[in-house]
Amino acid sequence: NLQVQADKTIDASGKLVMPGGIDPHVHLDMPFMGTFSSDDYSTGTNAALHGGTTMVIDFILQTQGKSLHHALSEWQGRSNGNAFGDYSFHMAVTDFNEDTKKEIAQMVEEEGITSFKTFMAYKGALMIDDRQMVGLMNEVKKCGGLVTVHATNGDMIDFLIAKHRSEGKLEPLYHYLSQPEITESEATGRFADMAFHTGVPAYVVHMTCEGALNQVREAARRNQRVFVETCIQYLVLDAALYEQNFEGAKYVMSPPLREKKDQESLWAGINQGTVNVVATDHCPFMWEQKKMGLNDFSKIPNGHPAIEHRMELLFSEGVNKGKISLNKFVEVSSTNAAKIFGMYPRKGTIGIGTDADLIIFDPNKKHRLTAKTHHMNVDYSAYEGWELTGKCESVLLRGEVAVENGITQVQKGYGKFIKRGKSSLVV
Ligand code: URP
Ligand code: ZN
Ligand code: ZN
Repeated sequence: NLQVQADKTIDASGKLVMPGGIDPHVHLDMPFMGTFSSDDYSTGTNAALHGGTTMVIDFILQTQGKSLHHALSEWQGRSNGNAFGDYSFHMAVTDFNEDTKKEIAQMVEEEGITSFKTFMAYKGALMIDDRQMVGLMNEVKKCGGLVTVHATNGDMIDFLIAKHRSEGKLEPLYHYLSQPEITESEATGRFADMAFHTGVPAYVVHMTCEGALNQVREAARRNQRVFVETCIQYLVLDAALYEQNFEGAKYVMSPPLREKKDQESLWAGINQGTVNVVATDHCPFMWEQKKMGLNDFSKIPNGHPAIEHRMELLFSEGVNKGKISLNKFVEVSSTNAAKIFGMYPRKGTIGIGTDADLIIFDPNKKHRLTAKTHHMNVDYSAYEGWELTGKCESVLLRGEVAVENGITQVQKGYGKFIKRGKSSLVV
């Protein structure tokens, strides 16, 4: 019943009209393991739009010994004016000290950065110890923010990597064998315990396995709510992919792919409401970059390209195959992230006064994924040749047509930094 003259009419009959996707876990143009992830803000957000993701949240990495503000300006330098789609930042605190402590409130109140990422792994690079973790949690709790975590036991992993290398076990398979499920379930439980003690709202990123999910289920028994994110690759790919020669490097990511039983747990977790978000942890590297670890798995840059395919893979493998409902699809691909990360109802829903981030999705259209046609700046596809049913046809971002007929319609720089507020799911 809109009484306005439309600038443009799009025929969406027979299609699904859904909120634009939100991917709250991406790494664009990130310095990591001696190189940079190969998608920058321009290629990464453009690829995201083509797959129906209208907003991403990237991670700023504090350099140990430097301030959070220093890192923020570095990331602003790379992102300002370069994005096609909307974006925000989580602040990764890698050096929590008296100076950093003072910056937490400034991030929340002045910069609209309300979530703080921690690493319990990547020992010697990004990892913080439990003393820093508890200190940070106390401060974030005071400021009304949220602590997120890469929850794997960095010391155990460090030990296993060194052991495998000393035994001459250097193939990509040993990346997987250096991060067994127990390293993730132990750290997830420890993180949940520290969050329970401090009372801080907690979110576990890229959860892969049954053991870790059970730690969150256990925390729920004492009425603690721990938010859980998994990533599309953990739902649809498994560790058999490591049982090949160096091709397995395409799947070297942390944590690694797991077993079929873990996939079943994660799908069940989505339906039970224990897994809240399906993200990507998009962190692409060109094949030449992956080859940095040709003779040593520990030197393969960790990361997986998926920013463009998350929504279509989740629809095809999840909704079309009867694993999740259409409502769950919208929740885990968009609405829950908007709520958890303080952007709701501006983002993550369709309604009066919201941002009008919309996708028009053909649920029956079949198409094939291939590096020949994807928009990501990476020269292989982890899903080469996969046939999917369901395709994102048009995308609107803040009311503007951003993608139509496979062509980007907005200019570089249209994507805006979105200041976030406090989580609407935390009571
Ligand atoms: O392998 C991964 N996940 N690379 C990106 C960094 C991280 O741990 O999220
Ligand atoms: Zn991680
Ligand atoms: Zn990540």
